[in-house]
Amino acid sequence: MCRYSNLGLLWFALQGCVLGAPSTHRKRDNTTEDYSRNLLEESMNWLDMFYDESAGYLYSLDSSALTHETRASAWYSAGLLARNAGDDAEQASKIISNIIEGQRWQFSNVSEQWYGDYQVYPEEPTVGTAQYPAKIYNSWDPNWRGFVGTTFVLILEEFKDLLSPELEALMVESLKNTTIGDSYRVGGVDDDNLYPAYSNPFIMRAFVSGWVGRRISDANMTAAGEHDAKQIVELFNRANTLSEFNSGTYAGVSLYALTLWAKYMPESSIMGQNGGRMIKETWNSLGSLYNANLKNVAGPWDRAYGFDMQRYLSILALQIWTLVGKENAPVNSKPYVMGHKNDFAIGPLIAILAPFHNELVSNSTVSSLLDFPGTHNVTTSAFSPPYDTYPRNISTWLSPNFTIGAVTFSENVIGGPSINPKQFNPAVVQWARKDGTVGFITLYAQVPALEGKVEPNSLELTYPKGNSSSTFVFLVGTNSKDGKRDVSSWDDVEGLEVVVDGTVDPEYEVTFNGLVGGAGDVINEFEFWNFTYSMPQNSEEKPSIRLHLELS
Ligand SMILES: *[C@@H]1O[C@H](CO)[C@@H](O)[C@H](O)[C@H]1NC(C)=O
Ligand SMILES: *[C@@H]1O[C@H](CO)[C@@H](O)[C@H](O)[C@H]1NC(C)=O
Ligand SMILES: *[C@@H]1O[C@H](CO)[C@@H](O)[C@H](O)[C@H]1NC(C)=O
Ligand SMILES: *[C@@H]1O[C@H](CO)[C@@H](O)[C@H](O)[C@H]1NC(C)=O
Ligand SMILES: *[C@@H]1O[C@H](CO)[C@@H](O)[C@H](O)[C@H]1NC(C)=O
Ligand SMILES: *[C@@H]1O[C@H](CO)[C@@H](O)[C@H](O)[C@H]1NC(C)=O
Ligand SMILES: *[C@@H]1O[C@H](CO)[C@@H](O)[C@H](O)[C@H]1NC(C)=O
Ligand SMILES: *[C@@H]1O[C@H](CO)[C@@H](O)[C@H](O)[C@H]1NC(C)=O
Ligand SMILES: *[C@@H]1O[C@H](CO)[C@@H](O)[C@H](O)[C@H]1NC(C)=O
Ligand SMILES: *[C@@H]1O[C@H](CO)[C@@H](O)[C@H](O)[C@H]1NC(C)=O
Repeated sequence: MCRYSNLGLLWFALQGCVLGAPSTHRKRDNTTEDYSRNLLEESMNWLDMFYDESAGYLYSLDSSALTHETRASAWYSAGLLARNAGDDAEQASKIISNIIEGQRWQFSNVSEQWYGDYQVYPEEPTVGTAQYPAKIYNSWDPNWRGFVGTTFVLILEEFKDLLSPELEALMVESLKNTTIGDSYRVGGVDDDNLYPAYSNPFIMRAFVSGWVGRRISDANMTAAGEHDAKQIVELFNRANTLSEFNSGTYAGVSLYALTLWAKYMPESSIMGQNGGRMIKETWNSLGSLYNANLKNVAGPWDRAYGFDMQRYLSILALQIWTLVGKENAPVNSKPYVMGHKNDFAIGPLIAILAPFHNELVSNSTVSSLLDFPGTHNVTTSAFSPPYDTYPRNISTWLSPNFTIGAVTFSENVIGGPSINPKQFNPAVVQWARKDGTVGFITLYAQVPALEGKVEPNSLELTYPKGNSSSTFVFLVGTNSKDGKRDVSSWDDVEGLEVVVDGTVDPEYEVTFNGLVGGAGDVINEFEFWNFTYSMPQNSEEKPSIRLHLELS
């Protein structure tokens, strides 16, 4: 049978492997293994075009004037080892040692906050100099420890036989430094925000620390990993949801990292004990919010890099690809033309882990990724201390061609725990248009507290702490290709009838943020019409608006 460890072989000896398998093994033409191999192949074909063999790095995926980039190169090296054709393994080894030498040169001072990190790009100046000040998430990115570190562990677990003993030792040295550096991170200290509620990097940190601690017999590191893991599990168990809830991109990263917990951590570890269950529950939640007709996970979204999963590339969509095939997933036939396309570079890791990960996804979830099960409501919650004063209440109504979701919350920040109004989408409407494309309305996050009430065909939003200067700003997607190009009222929005009431002034303003012009810039690479409602002058009422929505 074609186990994952044969994936590289499988690719080039596909015939032999398939012929070698018992014929009864394949009930369907396509299996998770086919889909995973297909994702590995397509993502690697794309990345191959960016590879600079003389440098032993990928060029910048943004084509930034022949500079290179570290994180995608690490992911590519794992893909090279999985493919293992020609001199792939040799190139992978070259990339890995380059990345580690960059780490050694730039991040070797144990007294610095960025100790043990990996470079964002090899040409970068020295972080922490007068000309290149250390600025977290800017001149250095603390999450690169987790992204590159987990990739190194995956490589050591899966492809050790393709590496020299010297390189293996170098990788362990590198992982040790990165683990120590990552332990410096404390939410609220030195501009860092690594709280247990910051799910994706916290899950990665727990894993790398736990794995490296066991590998080098450092009981402290092992214990630190378990300590981190315990906090994540406790937060998760409250409602079986990740704190970084419902994000096309970051649910994907969390699922990737939880797969590492489940696959590589022993049963004696909290991670080994809980990883599989957390993957299953996370998918149950995502599956219940997924609308297979729209090929979108309905809102609200904690952190989104786009407003329609069919038009921006999400990591979750790559996982869906491995579960039900590319054609059924929210992925364009040319993934690299989508918004946020650089995340296609994580394709090799998702493909490598898919055969293991996909076994943990319930059949009913897989079925909901293919067929919309019928109109239903989802109510759940997620909690992100220290930002939330109480768990965020999520409620979503899903019907065959139409979804409405909103969250009720009270936080000490604006824009969600990532403090980013461009990513935080607390109220979202999506619908199918006649040509099969998806329209969207999303509330632009401007307030620290919101009451969101969802009912069939209705979205009601209240700002409990608002006043007469409050506004409700809705970003509304552009019409389909053959639809009206110009929009000045709800009547011009394709496929939807909207009637508005509430304490707001019924007069509203419509402006356009376009790729090359209009009132302002696009958000997450999406153009939008900005529908803004204000309060009547000197109003004493609580700002509130209700959209009554019908498909037309
Ligand atoms: C799925 O199976 C069909 C029929 O065998 C084949 O043409 C197609 O390429 C397969 N797709 C993938 C992604 O493997
Ligand atoms: C790891 O850190 C030590 C200092 O603690 C440094 O001497 C060494 O070069 C570093 N190794 C790498 C690969 O960064
Ligand atoms: C290491 O960093 C500390 C803190 O910034 C600094 O005081 C020290 O001089 C650095 N050491 C070296 C060798 O650069
Ligand atoms: C482990 O942590 C304890 C307490 O912080 C410290 O005293 C000890 O030196 C550490 N041991 C190692 C091997 O790092
Ligand atoms: C899904 O269903 C198949 C049979 O149809 C069964 O073999 C498999 O164990 C089920 N998987 C899960 C995760 O329940
Ligand atoms: C969803 O909840 C609303 C109340 O908010 C209710 O009117 C409706 O019947 C529910 N729909 C389903 C399918 O349960
Ligand atoms: C959130 O939902 C729970 C359970 O339905 C409910 O008890 C609680 O009052 C809600 N909180 C808010 C602020 O709406
Ligand atoms: C959903 O939209 C599709 C495409 O426009 C249409 O064929 C179908 O009848 C719609 N379904 C419902 C339940 O409205
Ligand atoms: C409304 O609240 C905002 C933010 O708290 C404040 O800056 C503004 O002055 C208030 N406006 C009025 C009219 O009270
Ligand atoms: C939306 O339009 C209003 C009114 O013109 C403006 O104040 C606001 O900044 C705009 N918001 C966004 C996100 O473009």
